[in-house]
Amino acid sequence: MYHAPVLLRETIEALLIEQDGCFVDATFGGGGHSGALLEALGPKGRLYSFDQDLDAAQNARQSPFAGDARFTFIHSNFRFIQRQLRSEGVRPGSVSGIMADLGVSSYQLDTPERGFSYRFDAELDMRMNPTEGQTAADILNTYSADELQRVFGELGEVRNARTLAKACTDARATRPFSTTGELNELCEKLAMGERMRYRSQVFQALRMEVNDELGALETFLNESLQMLAPGGRLAVITFHSLEDRMVKNFFKSGNVSGELNKDFYGNISRPMEQLTKKPIEASDVENRENPRARSAKLRVAIKTR
Ligand SMILES: C[S@@+](CC[C@H](N)C(=O)[O-])C[C@H]1O[C@@H](n2cnc3c(N)ncnc32)[C@H](O)[C@@H]1O
Repeated sequence: MYHAPVLLRETIEALLIEQDGCFVDATFGGGGHSGALLEALGPKGRLYSFDQDLDAAQNARQSPFAGDARFTFIHSNFRFIQRQLRSEGVRPGSVSGIMADLGVSSYQLDTPERGFSYRFDAELDMRMNPTEGQTAADILNTYSADELQRVFGELGEVRNARTLAKACTDARATRPFSTTGELNELCEKLAMGERMRYRSQVFQALRMEVNDELGALETFLNESLQMLAPGGRLAVITFHSLEDRMVKNFFKSGNVSGELNKDFYGNISRPMEQLTKKPIEASDVENRENPRARSAKLRVAIKTR
């Protein structure tokens, strides 16, 4: 299976407010959420699904709903959602619902040559779109020790980020990084706490940097708000505390830093209203069946009128 969708029922129920509306799935992956949305949509409904990954694009072309006239796949980073939708003739202020299920798919993690996982020895790549940008090896070989410390500390919450960053710059002076195995070796020596957790924090931090995941999310949130119709909904599933905080702040204030905007009279303007104050989490049953669901948090907000 390409990817087991997380919080599927909860997302569709929260998002699908009208059967014949125009909807967007920003992260097609294995098409789990897109397929469920199409099933629930009426004959006049429309679904635009994005993914920047070439394998996901291929998967979309081969999916059972590829020939569905209500469905369009857009091979692009979701940070370009506004430009891409406009070029499909979708006007800002007209979309009923937009969703994103962030991070990597199981397929990406389980494909050794993509370099996302510490479980295989492979090229240190980690690009979701392998046709552009820097690889994880490029970052390890060119970033300064301070920059690497930021990546490991902020994105991976690695406790000894400074030591790890210094170890990387020392190691590359003898031999530049090229494989996941080399990074694993370093993690093995420096791991603090549980080894697997340490490695996954380090790998996750690099992946987020390679793909500028926080930058893409911020642009996506801003542009999605523009595209939504008043009363339209935005549903985002996150797996990382920094992403969850950005989404929570955005839903509260209309910007990722959470700064409240006041008008001339001191009234707070809120472009969105959260559907539930607390994020929706997976049930015990789903967590048992799909361990990836354990860290998933779904937040949904409605664009105010
Ligand atoms: C967790 S998977 C989505 C799984 C999907 N909901 C399903 O049920 O099969 C995340 C997908 O989002 C894609 N992705 C992540 N960041 C992206 C971005 N900035 N732009 C476009 N696609 C992105 C990844 O390539 C991956 O295929």
